[in-house]
Amino acid sequence: MARGELIKQMLSSHQRGDEEAFREAASEVIADERRRHHGLLAQELQEIMHTPERAAGTPVAFSSLKPLPKAKDEANLVELVNPRRTLQGQILRPDVRDRLNEVLEERRRASVLHAHGLSPVRTLLFVGPPGTGKSSTAESLASELGVPLARVNLPAVVSSLLGETSRNLAAIFDSSRSEPWVLLFDEFDALGRERSDATEHGELKRVVTTFLQLLDHYAGPAVVIAATNHPAMLDDAVWRRFDDVIGFKLPTMRETEKLVRRLFRRVQLGAPPREVAQRLRRWPQADVELVCRAAMKRSVLRDGDSVSLADLDAAIKRLEERRATIRNSRG
Ligand SMILES: Nc1ncnc2c1ncn2[C@@H]1O[C@H](COP(=O)(O)OP(=O)(O)OP(=O)(O)O)[C@@H](O)[C@H]1O
Ligand SMILES: [Mg+2]
Repeated sequence: MARGELIKQMLSSHQRGDEEAFREAASEVIADERRRHHGLLAQELQEIMHTPERAAGTPVAFSSLKPLPKAKDEANLVELVNPRRTLQGQILRPDVRDRLNEVLEERRRASVLHAHGLSPVRTLLFVGPPGTGKSSTAESLASELGVPLARVNLPAVVSSLLGETSRNLAAIFDSSRSEPWVLLFDEFDALGRERSDATEHGELKRVVTTFLQLLDHYAGPAVVIAATNHPAMLDDAVWRRFDDVIGFKLPTMRETEKLVRRLFRRVQLGAPPREVAQRLRRWPQADVELVCRAAMKRSVLRDGDSVSLADLDAAIKRLEERRATIRNSRG
């Protein structure tokens, strides 16, 4: 649409009180400025349209500028989540924390970088074992930035219809041209297992290639994060396409102990946290949390005044049984 038409549409929708049409037109103006390489102005307009400064962890009042992208069958391709976690609440290796803080600094001061012809980090690959904090850290980055977490609905994206998966991916990236959200492709290796050729292994699938191309050309205001616990995604062709790769690891003893202390902030623990951590050695953070919460419930339900090692041992036993059940059901 011509610039004059856009401005008319913006003003008339404002007069009519049609918020959706107003945001649509505003989003076009911002995209147009970006196309003209007026990065700084586009960034400023974007900031005007979005949330004011707020403390991390407080709810984000979000709205998307455009309607959310949908698949052919009308399923939502992304889901907006109000992020609540903070980075401080995450147990992370010091180097990972430092790097994430740098990412936040680059994003918060994007206009300064743009003014010098530089761009902030846009794309991140999170890799690491299950339950070590990839998804929750993506949420905490959104929270720290005061933007919504846009979680990609991969089952809706992956279609058996020829070309449809790529079209869906393109629609998501297109929406992200004007949205400063944190766009999360969680467990994105699932893209490599297209429904139509589920038997093929190892090779980089056509859709992953499409995804990487879209990522390469992405120049919008979102932070795009892809997360995986699949080591195949460490393939050179994949990780080189991201601005940075962040590795999540199983916690050290000291980190497990810190997590235990944190989990028991409001509930009395009747044993030294170090001893609890020793029992949970080399377990992913997610499992440590699961066991501690199960032990708390046990203790509360038997009216105990503190969580004992016996409560923890019972919870550990449960989790180990659960793991065995899952292992056995896989055959
Ligand atoms: N590093 C961490 N610090 C604090 N809590 C954590 C951490 N990692 C995981 N948790 C807890 O475990 C839950 C599950 O972790 P999360 O979903 O972030 O793991 P993940 O790495 O994305 O796992 P998966 O590979 O299975 O998707 C989180 O919601 C959080 O409560
Ligand atoms: Mg995850």
